[in-house]
Amino acid sequence: MEAILTLLAVFLTGSQRETRPRMSEFSVKSTIISRYAFTTVFCTMVNSGSEAREAVFEMQIPAAAFISNFTMSIGNKTYYGEVTGKEKKHSNDDKAKMKKPPSPVNGRENGYETFKASVFIPRKMQANFLLHYEELLQRRLGKYEYMVSIRPQQLVGRLRVEVNILENSGIISLEVPPLRNSKHKGNGKAEGDVSPPPSTVIGQTKTLAKVTFSPNVVEQTKIARNGILGDFIVRYDVNRELSVGDVQILNGYFVHYFAPMDLPPLPKNVVFVLDSSASMVGTKLRQTKEALFTILQDLRPEDHFNIIGFSNRIKVWQQDRLVPVTPNNIRDAKKYIHNMSPTGGTNINSALQTGAKLLNDYIAQNNIDARSVSLIIFLTDGRPTVGETQSSKILSNTKDAIRDKFCLFTIGIGNDVDYKLLERMALENCGMVRHFQEDEDAASHLKGFYDEIGTPLLSDIRIDYPEDNVEQVTQNFFPNYFNGSEIIIAGKLINRTSDSLHVEVTASNSKKYILLKTDVAIDLPSTNDIRAVPGLEDGRADQNYIERAWSYLTIKELLNSRLKSNDNQEKEYLTEKAKSMALAYNFVTPFTYLKMREAGIHSEPPHEELISPSTDGIGEKLQSLQGHKAPPGTR
Ligand SMILES: *[C@@H]1O[C@H](CO)[C@@H](O)[C@H](O)[C@H]1NC(C)=O
Ligand SMILES: *[C@@H]1O[C@H](CO)[C@@H](O)[C@H](O)[C@H]1NC(C)=O
Ligand SMILES: *[C@@H]1O[C@H](CO)[C@@H](O)[C@H](O)[C@H]1NC(C)=O
Ligand SMILES: *[C@@H]1O[C@H](CO)[C@@H](O)[C@H](O)[C@H]1NC(C)=O
Repeated sequence: MEAILTLLAVFLTGSQRETRPRMSEFSVKSTIISRYAFTTVFCTMVNSGSEAREAVFEMQIPAAAFISNFTMSIGNKTYYGEVTGKEKKHSNDDKAKMKKPPSPVNGRENGYETFKASVFIPRKMQANFLLHYEELLQRRLGKYEYMVSIRPQQLVGRLRVEVNILENSGIISLEVPPLRNSKHKGNGKAEGDVSPPPSTVIGQTKTLAKVTFSPNVVEQTKIARNGILGDFIVRYDVNRELSVGDVQILNGYFVHYFAPMDLPPLPKNVVFVLDSSASMVGTKLRQTKEALFTILQDLRPEDHFNIIGFSNRIKVWQQDRLVPVTPNNIRDAKKYIHNMSPTGGTNINSALQTGAKLLNDYIAQNNIDARSVSLIIFLTDGRPTVGETQSSKILSNTKDAIRDKFCLFTIGIGNDVDYKLLERMALENCGMVRHFQEDEDAASHLKGFYDEIGTPLLSDIRIDYPEDNVEQVTQNFFPNYFNGSEIIIAGKLINRTSDSLHVEVTASNSKKYILLKTDVAIDLPSTNDIRAVPGLEDGRADQNYIERAWSYLTIKELLNSRLKSNDNQEKEYLTEKAKSMALAYNFVTPFTYLKMREAGIHSEPPHEELISPSTDGIGEKLQSLQGHKAPPGTR
């Protein structure tokens, strides 16, 4: 018995080393039309061993993206992923059965979630994986950023990324920075190295761009021996001429991009609420302080501010007021930040109550600048441990204190944060959430987030279209517009053949209400333009990209509304609506999953549960991917 075990052990270690299936190809092809990105990942794994081996296809996809298709062939069998609605009872069972991954925020750390399929490849055979996902690119700091994660975990014979961009209003400031590798601090790159990774080729005309990256094995080795190359990034912006923005119409749907630039900034009233509990000790506090120094430096003369440090106790820098930005005040604030020392627990509830009261009292004063935009920037590295610790109570207290008077922006740092709490807190109070790892880049990430919201240009923006010509329009009211971002609205036209759309934008800026009105003629890439994009020659790529952008935005909105809702009936309604839309557009969402079906009539279920979710978010998306016996006569 012992002898057998030993033998088995030797056999296992030996086999693991030698016969992991080899990845012979990893290629990514993406097409971005008017910021809507279609990505296709193709991967081949070869099992040259003399018995069946497990192969794992793993891909990090942007958390904002929806998977829209997955196909795989193993040996001579092909399986199609079919987007299917989750049944309520079922999903609970599955959830219970599934082991929760140890670190639920992990997959989000750089805005990614992990898609994973593990299969057994028969001896001397290969497996092909084909994954599609779609996303609408968000403008941040004046740029759209498209990322592809390249982490094949081994050197790959044929590795290729191709990104095609079509922007009818014109592509400007296209750049391909060095690969970003989150795991390796500093990446061994010299500071300021901004050249594209080796083997990158960039081609560009006014409206089209093609970027390829195809490092051979030697080039791959130079980047990373272990086959974890990092994120391939393409950044660009588009030309903007019309002040009411750019409206595109196709096949009865429209999308409206609004991103004015040449406006003076509005003054802001900002309260920084900063965690100084014991766990902030070391890198986190050091990085926070470093970021705050530069942020304070960047406040504008018309701004007002205050700082709250919290742990068990809540310490307000300047009692009962916000102070103007003067050299003295900035100097004192820096001193205050410098002297912050980590101690005690985390009283999130009281910290936010204090911050909200400070800002509310300030707003209630008569002498506040009527144009100004108020906001709280909240940073923590932990969960609530002192005072009110129940998330639902903290949420309702915060919402009651803020009452839609201003917006709350939340930042989580490190691995111990309650991301769900921070996300919902921001969502319920018209803000945004970010999560950063504790590392040497934390200060620059923090500063980057501040920069996104540091320059409000408009507030109370409302965008209207003639009621008798549009329906199912996405959110058209926005509390603030920040420089470098973009407001996107999409909808359906009632008269599908109309060739222009009347647009009215109202917003407040510099005390007066501004009103912009225009009939926008349709700015539409011609079919010829689309055909000119490599990969779209066949006219496949989604001639209905505007409709898909509309469905993408609508589903995101439904998911957010659902997250915010406390009413079960409303939640149910939103869930059903999101689900039926996801089914109609073939998107994997929290309410739909991929069910693998074998092609052909003489089908057998695949031997394994094919997909094992590895992060929280994707876990919900994928559930179990069981094989399914196709009824005779289908495909
Ligand atoms: C999914 O991809 C496969 C393979 O490319 C294709 O045959 C199928 O039509 C696609 N399904 C959908 C719904 O697009
Ligand atoms: C698929 O492979 C199996 C085993 O290798 C073989 O028996 C079968 O005939 C093949 N089917 C087709 C359609 O090639
Ligand atoms: C807004 O951002 C653009 C670049 O995207 C910059 O040129 C401009 O100066 C910024 N405006 C203000 C008021 O900061
Ligand atoms: C739809 O729009 C077209 C083009 O603008 C116009 O000629 C037509 O009369 C409109 N149809 C209706 C029903 O309004």
